[in-house]
Amino acid sequence: MSTTIVYPSTSSRKKVTTLTLRQKKERGEPITMLTAYDYPTALVMDQAGIDSILVGDSLGMVVLGYENTLPVTMEDMLHHCRAVSRGAKAALLVGDMPFMSYQASVEDAVRNAGRFLQSAGMDAVKLEGGHERVPAIKAIVAAGIPVMGHLGLTPQSVHQLGGFHPQGRSALAAKRLLEDAFLLEEAGCFGIVLESLPARLAELISKKVSIPTIGIGAGVGCDGQVLVTHDLLGLFDRFTPKFVKQYADLHGEMYKAFSEYMADVQKRSFPAAEHSVEMKDEEWEELLKSL
Ligand code: KIV
Repeated sequence: MSTTIVYPSTSSRKKVTTLTLRQKKERGEPITMLTAYDYPTALVMDQAGIDSILVGDSLGMVVLGYENTLPVTMEDMLHHCRAVSRGAKAALLVGDMPFMSYQASVEDAVRNAGRFLQSAGMDAVKLEGGHERVPAIKAIVAAGIPVMGHLGLTPQSVHQLGGFHPQGRSALAAKRLLEDAFLLEEAGCFGIVLESLPARLAELISKKVSIPTIGIGAGVGCDGQVLVTHDLLGLFDRFTPKFVKQYADLHGEMYKAFSEYMADVQKRSFPAAEHSVEMKDEEWEELLKSL
């Protein structure tokens, strides 16, 4: 039996802010975040009531087909952020700063962060790294732009990390990550993504800092969770990380739909009369007479 879904109007939803996320942490309510890169996906997420949408630079891999996130440019990010901001009105929108948009200088970092808010409809930015990012984070926050940190497996450092491997598995590495989390909090981050860390380390960090932590492959002890939407939907063909739970098989659904469409066209069963435009008989007769 098919059920009809009644989609709630998003105009009745209150805008989610960085303060909302902080309050959710304080109340012990899990924060929900997903990535989106386009208008229709953002619209559905907003209707479903997601707290926050990350326009991640993961779009380089799952939308643009690159091997990693390094080739993604500011222009790529702003283009997709604008589409998402047209679809989602209530969720807190976070734009991911791409590789080399904030590493070379603090001035670059502030100017590029500003573009996400000024011309791409984002509410906040995210950038990767720990103690080495403190000057940039402080300057961006001082410009009035909310910043989300990102620790652990930081994909923009894939070559330095030697691949997409879990981080913080030795006592020393774990201690450094905890110290970095304190530094990001002190620098003014409103939240931190913790990616691919041992669950108990992520839980410890989440308890020690007062800002929300959003985990991806970091266990259930974080204050919230984020996934790359194409992984969750079964839309990324290359690999699915161990920490992903796949909630749909859209690759399979799309394959089925495209194959059925092609078969219908080949059999001439599409378009049918109901998909076609009609013309009054008298107009048709007049045309035939005129030929
Ligand atoms: O780019 C991205 O989608 C991310 C998430 C994996 C957190 O940074």
